[in-house]
Amino acid sequence: MKLFGESVRSIEIVSGPDGRPQAVRVLDQTRLPHEAVWIELGSPESVERAIATMQVRGAPLIGAAGAFGLALALDGDTSDPALAHWAARLAATRPTAVNLRWAVERVERAVRPLSADARAAAAWREAQAIADEDVAINAAIGRYGLDLLRARAADLGAGHAGRPLQIMTHCNAGWLATVDWGTALAPVYRAHDAGWAVHVWVSETRPRNQGALTAFELAEHGVPCTVVADNAAGVLMAEGRVDTVIVGCDRVAANGDVANKVGTYLKALAARAHGVPFWVALPSPTFDARLASGAAIPIERRSATEVIEVPGRAETGGLAVVMPFSAGVAADNPAFDVTPATLVSAWITECGVFTTPAALREGLIA
Ligand code: MRU
Repeated sequence: MKLFGESVRSIEIVSGPDGRPQAVRVLDQTRLPHEAVWIELGSPESVERAIATMQVRGAPLIGAAGAFGLALALDGDTSDPALAHWAARLAATRPTAVNLRWAVERVERAVRPLSADARAAAAWREAQAIADEDVAINAAIGRYGLDLLRARAADLGAGHAGRPLQIMTHCNAGWLATVDWGTALAPVYRAHDAGWAVHVWVSETRPRNQGALTAFELAEHGVPCTVVADNAAGVLMAEGRVDTVIVGCDRVAANGDVANKVGTYLKALAARAHGVPFWVALPSPTFDARLASGAAIPIERRSATEVIEVPGRAETGGLAVVMPFSAGVAADNPAFDVTPATLVSAWITECGVFTTPAALREGLIA
């Protein structure tokens, strides 16, 4: 997608003078949307830190980053113990998004049978394949999602005539959260690029305000959007100003239950109450067939600081933190919630659109 008018991917290999990979380049997402700063991660420790502190975030992107992190680890030590150590350490960095474990295990599986001197190069190749596949998966989700948007517009008929299609999203499931395209935003970009009038309601997504990332990348691509407080979703739906909700996901269980950024569940409840379709953009690596239901999905609990402190740009220009709450107040910070499959109208995958958990399982496991 476009950043300052140039096509970029959110993670790319940086090669040394000898042409061999020596680091990966990522945008520091803790500084967006105020500053676009590329950072180079040249060690597994730096990848681990970047994922833990959310300089790198979004389920598909942390998967790709974890895979490259393992390649960086093998550049230093290709032994079996080092492989096992770094695979476990990187996979544990953020527990909810299954893409991280999936990608690290995939690289581990690819290199384990190889001789010590073949492992590092093979790990880089596998990690790059994961990144490339993410782009292809999201492009396909965009195509299937565009068909759904067309069908929704046709259902609305005269109700949609003369105004843009109104899409609500939550968190950031755009290209910043993936290698390119995004998941939930891929259909939006496709629709916009096809000349359709679309408008996106972007929820702020407290506590970390990933809505700021969504508004930033939509604006970079020229897609009209409006930021709303998380609490405004219900009233907008009640007023008939939301035609559909599209969200991304961090893990989907075998029964179709969806773990996604905290606040997703409330949107799904409101959507059901108001007859608004609720769609989940789901790349197959985010589907965890090993878990029977969402009850088994580990929910990351992050620092209370994220709830009681709000970072942003100060009037003076620099980045600053404000504290709306009194010091020492108790706070809890579940970073994700689980939306039951019964509230999901459709799962949009690279293999097609599924409207029942049984069809989803058959479509993705087959
Ligand atoms: O905690 P984050 O910012 O890494 O959250 C993950 C997400 O970006 C969202 O939950 C998203 O909807 C799924 S990733 C495309």
